[in-house]
Amino acid sequence: MKKFSVHSCGPIRTSITVPGDKSMSHRSAMFASLAEGRSTITGFLESEDCLSTVNAMRALGVSIEHSDEGTFVVEGIGGSFTPPAGDVDCGNSGTTMRLLSGLLAAQAFRIRLTGDASLSKRPMGRVIEPLSEMGAHFSTEGGEGKPPLVIEGNTRTSLKPLSYEMPVASAQVKSAVLLAGLSAEGETSVIEPAACRDHTERMLQEFGVKLELGTPDAKGRRRIALKGPQHLKARDFAVPGDISSAAFWLVAASAKPGSEVTIDGVGLNPTRTGIITVLQRMGATMEITPVDPNAAEPLGSIRVTGGALHGTVIGGAEIPNVIDELPVLAVAGALAQGKTIIRDAKELRVKETDRIAAVAGNLRAMGVPVTETEDGMEIEGGYPLKGARLECFGDHRIAMAFAIAGLFAEGETVIESVECVATSYPTFGATLTSVLAS
Ligand code: S3P
Repeated sequence: MKKFSVHSCGPIRTSITVPGDKSMSHRSAMFASLAEGRSTITGFLESEDCLSTVNAMRALGVSIEHSDEGTFVVEGIGGSFTPPAGDVDCGNSGTTMRLLSGLLAAQAFRIRLTGDASLSKRPMGRVIEPLSEMGAHFSTEGGEGKPPLVIEGNTRTSLKPLSYEMPVASAQVKSAVLLAGLSAEGETSVIEPAACRDHTERMLQEFGVKLELGTPDAKGRRRIALKGPQHLKARDFAVPGDISSAAFWLVAASAKPGSEVTIDGVGLNPTRTGIITVLQRMGATMEITPVDPNAAEPLGSIRVTGGALHGTVIGGAEIPNVIDELPVLAVAGALAQGKTIIRDAKELRVKETDRIAAVAGNLRAMGVPVTETEDGMEIEGGYPLKGARLECFGDHRIAMAFAIAGLFAEGETVIESVECVATSYPTFGATLTSVLAS
């Protein structure tokens, strides 16, 4: 069993590169497989989650060659997938299972999608419901809409289009419906209650799909529509660095006076940069230099200078933009002066673990007063952090967030069973070691 042993460190002065974006890596493998012809993907995140997607596409008859570090050559078969020899294992990856359910909804054969213990507890009803309305057939074996998820072969020649108003702001649900819409006859649309990551929209357009993107109404709701059937064209795609991985170092550097950290080549898609906005609101000093703001997926560098942070309120429409960063933002709240409130984040309860309970419990173990609420927490910042022996509950982002907390604690912080970090950021431990040694 691997663990992180962390102690406090001085100012962090270094430049860090983060591996490829997880959301874009999943989509690049799926969309290139769906396209007709050869696509070369570079900067691909070779983490367990994204490799689950690569292996799923291979199991469905797509040839994907790993030609170099982070480079995959995909021979797309235009959606003519072949029945897999057995179950398709999605590992720990909700994105793999939910996006595949849309991508494969129109297939004529039966596909059984399985996952690990954590994924087997996550709700799939949110994709099953709209996809069933489109005429796809699903069953779940885990009870209450939980995996294994079986896509029963579709007997119709095509799916029915759907106008879907999402009850939760979920990029995975939006993506599943739009991907199924590619095989439906007519217009499929999704209305999102608040802006959530738009990689599917941007990347489908890169792969030649025509989409109609509405402008958000007064309540921030936006409609995205596409007319099916549509086919994807192969193309090369370079995945930028993952801002969700950069987030750990952004928090560490912002909260440690004297630090100066530069992160180059990181994705700056505005539906993902909430971490920067929130940290700036907490008093962090950050300089953003975009490389090509007009690229399909904008990227650039972030330079952060350490100082004192103060508490803030994180809630409402900004939650989907920081959903994966909330564990480490809670750590930032503990390091800041004053109170930090996280609200409207009930979704955290159905992530890889219940992230509200996990974060609140671990912060308390480190001596931070925290009140857990149904949809978030209130953190009393500014108390000295005490090193502790912590669990990460098999959740990569809990493991990494508390390794960052350990950099500020008195005494040793040990986080047990951190193998799960390999699902999104396999080199986190190496970067942590180099930060601790510097
Ligand atoms: C993701 C969407 C988010 C996010 C997850 C990746 C994606 O999930 O938390 O890590 O790539 O579409 P939800 O759609 O459940 O909000």
